[in-house]
Amino acid sequence: MATPHIGGLNIHNSDQFEKNQSNLKEVRSKIWMDIIFVNINSNEIDFEDYIKPLEQRWSKFINHEDQKLLVHSKDHGSFDLEVKSNWKFAIENYCESYHLPTIHPELNKVSNINDHYHIQGLPNRFAGQGSEKYEQPVKGNNKFDTFKNWEKSSLKNSEYIALFPNVMIGLHLDHFYVFWLEPLAINKTKEHMQMYYVGDKSANGEELKELRKENARFWKDVMLEDISAIEGMQEGKRFTSL
Ligand SMILES: [Fe+2]
Repeated sequence: MATPHIGGLNIHNSDQFEKNQSNLKEVRSKIWMDIIFVNINSNEIDFEDYIKPLEQRWSKFINHEDQKLLVHSKDHGSFDLEVKSNWKFAIENYCESYHLPTIHPELNKVSNINDHYHIQGLPNRFAGQGSEKYEQPVKGNNKFDTFKNWEKSSLKNSEYIALFPNVMIGLHLDHFYVFWLEPLAINKTKEHMQMYYVGDKSANGEELKELRKENARFWKDVMLEDISAIEGMQEGKRFTSL
């Protein structure tokens, strides 16, 4: 059983706390791609088995060693949005690409609807969409480091997966993001974005700061564009439920 930070920051034990005599219950948890997954009811299969189909799907892009290269960006690596919608509409919206040309004209330029495909994963596990061609962020001569094996394969895909119930992830040759949903009410959700790059230089190096800022702005605009669609779905549902 873990007792994180019980003795102060980064001190995970304390002489004044006897774990075995406490009433703390161990909760199954696993960190994957910097996301903490918990299974409070202990009624799920092992996480390694749970995530295996997605890892197999992504094995043509990244492996376990590549996963370790991901570094969170401290300066332009996160933002939050609040939407007047149930969290499930955000997930539903993330799984389809038909709205791409109309709702996301800028995204459609770098990840065109004609290059998109849908991903039918496994029931209760994941689904999403991908693009066979994603143009990497570039500014002048600056560009982010890439996953080397992926680059050698010449695949230029990006994939957007809703990991059920409430996590949306996006994988690219040179960056990865986690966009997870915090339900606040039946019709209110907080969306949390966390962005990652390949290695320290891309994630936090001074010379790529402007490019990170640009990339964060790009994804924030995309997620802002989705808000009207998601809130419209919520509004429509309200009327059909009458
Ligand atoms: Fe969208």
